[in-house]
Amino acid sequence: MSWQRTITLNQLSQHIGEVQTINGWVHRRRDHGGVIFLDVRDRYGFAQVVVEPSEDNKRIFEEAGKIRSEFVVSVTGKIRKRPGSDDDAGGKINKNLEIDASALTILSSSEVLPFALTDEGPGASENLRLKHRYLDLRRPELKNKIIQRTKLTRCIRNALEEMEFLDLETPILGKSTPEGAREFLVPSRVHPGHFYALPQSPQLFKQVLMISGFDRYYQIVRCFRDEDLRSDRQPEFTQVDCEMSFCDQETVMKTFEQMIKSAIKEYGRKLPDEAFEILSFKEAMESYGSDKPDLRFELKIQDLSEELKSCDFKVFSGAIDMGGVVNVIHLPGRAADFSRKDIENLEKIAKNFGAKGLAWAKVKAGSGAESWQSPIAKFIGEEGIQAVNKKLGAKEGDLLLFGAGEWNMTKTSLGAVRSQLGKQLELYDPKNLKFLWVIDFPLFEKDPETGEYVSMHHPFTKPNISSIEQLDGDLEKINAYAYDLVLNGCEVGGGSVRIHEADIQSKIFDKLGLSKEQAQTKFGFLLDALSFGAPPHAGIAFGLDRLAMILTESDSIRDVIAFPKTNNASCLMTESPTKANIEQLRDLHIRVQEVPK
Ligand code: AMO
Ligand code: AMP
Repeated sequence: MSWQRTITLNQLSQHIGEVQTINGWVHRRRDHGGVIFLDVRDRYGFAQVVVEPSEDNKRIFEEAGKIRSEFVVSVTGKIRKRPGSDDDAGGKINKNLEIDASALTILSSSEVLPFALTDEGPGASENLRLKHRYLDLRRPELKNKIIQRTKLTRCIRNALEEMEFLDLETPILGKSTPEGAREFLVPSRVHPGHFYALPQSPQLFKQVLMISGFDRYYQIVRCFRDEDLRSDRQPEFTQVDCEMSFCDQETVMKTFEQMIKSAIKEYGRKLPDEAFEILSFKEAMESYGSDKPDLRFELKIQDLSEELKSCDFKVFSGAIDMGGVVNVIHLPGRAADFSRKDIENLEKIAKNFGAKGLAWAKVKAGSGAESWQSPIAKFIGEEGIQAVNKKLGAKEGDLLLFGAGEWNMTKTSLGAVRSQLGKQLELYDPKNLKFLWVIDFPLFEKDPETGEYVSMHHPFTKPNISSIEQLDGDLEKINAYAYDLVLNGCEVGGGSVRIHEADIQSKIFDKLGLSKEQAQTKFGFLLDALSFGAPPHAGIAFGLDRLAMILTESDSIRDVIAFPKTNNASCLMTESPTKANIEQLRDLHIRVQEVPK
């Protein structure tokens, strides 16, 4: 009889009473008074195998005695109802069925694992698990996340194909595409001293495809960015990259909203029928202190500058005198939930975002200065307190958290406090999916280090202007036709309407400090292409890893990538990157020097 499986472990119930063969890993072996139980696992599930020590079974009983965890086995036997329940088998095993083994082959043995594949969470340190990623991926929890990701990819692809987008490939060995991160370079052997850049995105190729008339493009494509990594960032990640011709911002947003809705529906998650909410960048920052706010909960940041501009607390009035603001987060009925220590922890978060402090007040009964328990009550004074209570509708038992200073810093730091409060107080249902568009981003922002203008999205984004001369005016006043898609407080997509006029594109390069020669060297092909009849076009790219991370309720993007990199961009399993040997370097015309620190 062949050792090859005749069924997978999700099919037992269809074959009760039959003799079948299964293949899989031994999750656990249990010896019970002379009977051996093997919990066998495959991609599809678990099954309990019973090996009884009868005369006929003597050989396989002996064989079963040699089996340890993670041996790979083939078992043939009759599938039968399990006599009585066996609590020890745990919840995962096919509850009522088992296989009565009549043949058993060990296909492969296993050393003792460096960590146990426990049923309860990962168990071992992440680094140890990453080193033996093949083992960690055997854990059903992690395996299912990767499988869910493939399902998401399929649903997105189906939605795009349905909408007549063409799956077109673009080069990986290419030229610099400015998306704001540092790029990975690949030395050329054929062209000494020359380098390809790995794409940060296929941005320019997809625009050129529009100019070539392909009309609707998509690609599920790896992108590379050499940037500081976080829980939602990897140096190589996957975009669902899209572009379409002959559309304005409203149409492109509608099209991709429909695509996302249809993909998520096929994936099996419910979304409300309404259109996604839209906030301007300014509104998002004003009310939520973030350009990617989590709208699963309300908790807006409110302005108290008018109420507190002339109070005696110099931190507040001074901030307003300097052109800044005083803002507050108002938590109704939560004063008793926060000790001084809890507030200090929130203050630390605010300070990480540049705030000088996080003043607070607990609202008590009464109407005068005594109605606030707060280190700043005496400075704010009765009048100020009443004005604030009135504006907020604050009542006994409420907690107020204040930020004062420059607008952007105050918003961002209170935004971080707001996010923490949302998590800490469980202000939302973690299973909810809340999409949001953020639009009207500024076209440029100032690089905090150099003070020079850089594109907020990228240099190919259409400015919201009525004439090209406006680009000679105040650049900070110009908005872009750019949009981000936010899901539960995470930026899962970003795109823009593109510049399709060569003169505007040249002018933007000029404003970004590129000389004519530099623009020609870097982007000459684009400027040329734009001069030969470019259709109006627009697009977006979704972060597939991030979407998968949220849909699988993972805390880290690494959970939805089969072979992710660590926070310092190495792969612990293959131990990359590695040094190149001298011959390779010679071929590539490269000499490596220790760079002095
Ligand atoms: P953007 O730079 O906004 O736009 O990227 C699009 C989306 O890609 C995801 N993303 C990442 N995911 C994981 N790790 C990273 N390091 C990482 N960086 C970005 C985010 C983001 O929203 N060419 C433009 C798109 C366009 O204009 O059409 C672009 O790449 O979810
Ligand atoms: P201080 O007078 O510096 O001891 O501050 C008194 C209170 O005001 C403390 O609770 C500080 O956290 C808070 N505080 C100080 N600076 C700011 C600020 N810029 N915004 C909000 N609160 C502040």
